[in-house]
Amino acid sequence: MKRVLTAVLSIASVGVLAACGSGPVPSGSSGGGGGGGQITMGFSQVGAESGWRTANTTSIQDAAKAADVNLKFSDANGEQENQISAIRSFVQQRVGVIAFSPVVRTGWDAVLLEAKNAGIPVILTDRAVDTQEKDVYKTFIGADFVQEGKWAGEWTAKEYASAPGPVNIVQLEGTTGSDPALERTTGFADAIKTNPNLKIIASQSGDFTRSGGKQVMEAFLKANPKIDMVFAQNDDMGLGAVEAIEAAGKKPGQDIKIVAIDATHDGMQATADGKFNFLVECNPLLGPQLMDIAKKVVAGEAVPARIVTKDQTFDQAQAKAALPDRKY
Ligand code: AHR
Repeated sequence: MKRVLTAVLSIASVGVLAACGSGPVPSGSSGGGGGGGQITMGFSQVGAESGWRTANTTSIQDAAKAADVNLKFSDANGEQENQISAIRSFVQQRVGVIAFSPVVRTGWDAVLLEAKNAGIPVILTDRAVDTQEKDVYKTFIGADFVQEGKWAGEWTAKEYASAPGPVNIVQLEGTTGSDPALERTTGFADAIKTNPNLKIIASQSGDFTRSGGKQVMEAFLKANPKIDMVFAQNDDMGLGAVEAIEAAGKKPGQDIKIVAIDATHDGMQATADGKFNFLVECNPLLGPQLMDIAKKVVAGEAVPARIVTKDQTFDQAQAKAALPDRKY
């Protein structure tokens, strides 16, 4: 029932946006597809599950305004079917370019082919897809999620290099089937292989949300008397874990160490406060690059197949130093 309702709401919201925006663009007109006129971009966002996502949405909306791109924005509320409906609606409206951050990695072939057959270029932002179809998107702009997981794992391997016995790690995974959850899991597992003492004793999805992270961590704490470290695949789940650990009478960052990914302001604060031990950055400010690439794509210019953003890592001292300038 909830799925049906959110699908209806999402289609309705795309309809409203279409009504408020420039409306359907007649074939051959330059209104949606450049040709010297303003570009219309249909953007389907995952949802508003995390601080990272909110910063990403703001970046895209602000950058569209600054670049004079007519943005039709649709929030999928975490549901793939809502994204598919939104993309279909953008195709019907004949927007100049479609961009989206896919909730999950598979299941996009049909709708991507529809966009291709309509001659509307597609740009993937933040998350990639698995597809056997050829030339169904122009480029991908986002982070190297495997590398992010590796950095988290390398810190862990170093931190526990001289541990005398088993180190029990619990993993809070992102949304099941999503690109960052799959790739961060791979990168982390690869990096901790170097130290046989490191054991992932439990791993479950907290759906990239604070409440999800808290709930899963509460269950982990009940089921496992000895947890040494949490690998949270985003800041929000790590912050949820902090709440669960404190409620259990333990000190996050000391009794149980926490490594997280994103490096949003809240994650940086937790690291500076000593509640997180190590932070891997995933930059959400993709808007300006997206608008730039969209203009090139619409103009028919060649663009790289994959554009990877630059990220870094922060220990507690580095987080303290970087916090005052953190924009998101
Ligand atoms: O796809 C990027 C991930 O999605 C971020 O790490 C997470 O916070 C978000 O929800």
